[in-house]
Amino acid sequence: MQKPIMIIGAMDPEIDFLVDKLENLKKSKLNIYNVYEGNIEGKEVVIAQSEVGIINSSVLTTLAIEKYKPSIIINEGTAGGIGRNIHKGDIVIGSECFNIMSAKTPYKEEGEGSNSLEWEYITFVNGGKDEKKTVKADEKLVQFIKSVKEKYNNGNVCTGVIGSGDIWNCEKDKIMYLSEKHGVLCEEMEGIAVYTVAKNYNVPVVGVRVISDNEILGEEYDRNLGLECQKFVYEIVKRICII
Ligand code: 5AD
Repeated sequence: MQKPIMIIGAMDPEIDFLVDKLENLKKSKLNIYNVYEGNIEGKEVVIAQSEVGIINSSVLTTLAIEKYKPSIIINEGTAGGIGRNIHKGDIVIGSECFNIMSAKTPYKEEGEGSNSLEWEYITFVNGGKDEKKTVKADEKLVQFIKSVKEKYNNGNVCTGVIGSGDIWNCEKDKIMYLSEKHGVLCEEMEGIAVYTVAKNYNVPVVGVRVISDNEILGEEYDRNLGLECQKFVYEIVKRICII
């Protein structure tokens, strides 16, 4: 049997268009999470809805890989633009992803407060060195999506770092710190879980995110931009050839 292409999205405006495109639609649940199986131009596709956040997306990705043994995973949806050069409507292909909530703080005395600009990003491990680790997307998937980027016509398509964690940063200094010191192009709340779990199972993974807001540029959140990301992912799925 053909292994399916798996698409993971969090919220309804991030999956509804793609679900509508599925032929032979079959709806089911994995634990509390909605799953939609079907075909797009003859290809087996599973759309799994993670809901929001790292815990939800860890659980859903694990259950979905165990059940469907996908050939690849595309994690798609909205994200906040980080920095001055990325606008609402642009797309980020996440060539790598890291956890922007995994950090060690410097020592401070009582009364000295807290300053997250001083935190050091660290991935803590059982044995070995605790250091900042990014999880890489599958290089072939990144290259393939870059090769069809002219199919996206609602903004620029950039490739780079996704910052991921259960946080919505509105502090401009923090946002510029993520941009300048860590090269982050966008932030969201599921990618690091999906990338990590997919890596554990050796499933090629990539994140594709549309920018729905940019605090630095004063561009307000619009979750409905999730539709533009879905349209691009639809073009990707139609063209992608899984061997
Ligand atoms: N910061 C964090 N998450 C964001 N999302 C969209 N914009 C941002 C942002 N600026 C996405 C997350 C989550 C939901 C709240 O929207 O991935 O699924």
